[in-house]
Amino acid sequence: MRTPFIAGNWKMNRSIGESIQLAKLLKVKLADVSQVDIAVCPQFLALPEVAKVLAGSNIHVGAQNCHGNPSGAFTGEVAAEMVADAGATHVILGHSERRQIFGETNQGVRARLAGALRAGLHPIVCVGETLAEREAGATIDIVSDQVKGALEGFDAQALRHLTLAYEPVWAIGTGKTASPEQAQEVHASIRSLIASLYGQDFAHALRIQYGGSVKPGNVAELMACTDIDGALVGGAALDAESFSNIVHF
Ligand code: PGA
Repeated sequence: MRTPFIAGNWKMNRSIGESIQLAKLLKVKLADVSQVDIAVCPQFLALPEVAKVLAGSNIHVGAQNCHGNPSGAFTGEVAAEMVADAGATHVILGHSERRQIFGETNQGVRARLAGALRAGLHPIVCVGETLAEREAGATIDIVSDQVKGALEGFDAQALRHLTLAYEPVWAIGTGKTASPEQAQEVHASIRSLIASLYGQDFAHALRIQYGGSVKPGNVAELMACTDIDGALVGGAALDAESFSNIVHF
């Protein structure tokens, strides 16, 4: 059985002080949860403070990105080692906003993943198709290319802490959720691709989150799908009550 894993991506929201407050509320509201793995991913500057608040709790802390090199002339970037040094154990990689707004490619995601693995972080690698790609019937091809492109060259041992997140771009921040059937279809195809690359045991153990307008009202039907093992939550993760309700699905 895969332990459900629900992560909140706070994106570029909340000041340091507001992030601390949100973390304190979540620490209390989620203290009773033992059957679900939980993580929150604040903006970089708030991350060390949030990590201090949540130290020793059942809530992990992640960054929203990291660079693949351990140090160097990469203005504006933060190395995986620095993310770990700040108190994070997890990192989101290849989010569609990174791909679409900042031009990250599958190859770039792979380089960042190399850094995350070297630094001992647990990566959450995001994949997902645009609306145009879905309408063209290319969803499975696009998602498969993203998975293969990000993971190429890493073996199962290196990827033992990997989580994948399927996030259809058209469902992110739009209020449009993929139906459970639409999501399950893609999740199942990702798991079978992973089985062909890394074997059945690895594929069976791998957690695949769904992301895209997950809310307290739709999380249960998504989580009921065979191959959906958790959620990557954006907007609804910014409110302690709604994130708590999602985790308590
Ligand atoms: P959303 O974002 O829940 O606001 O749609 C999800 C994500 O981008 O991870």
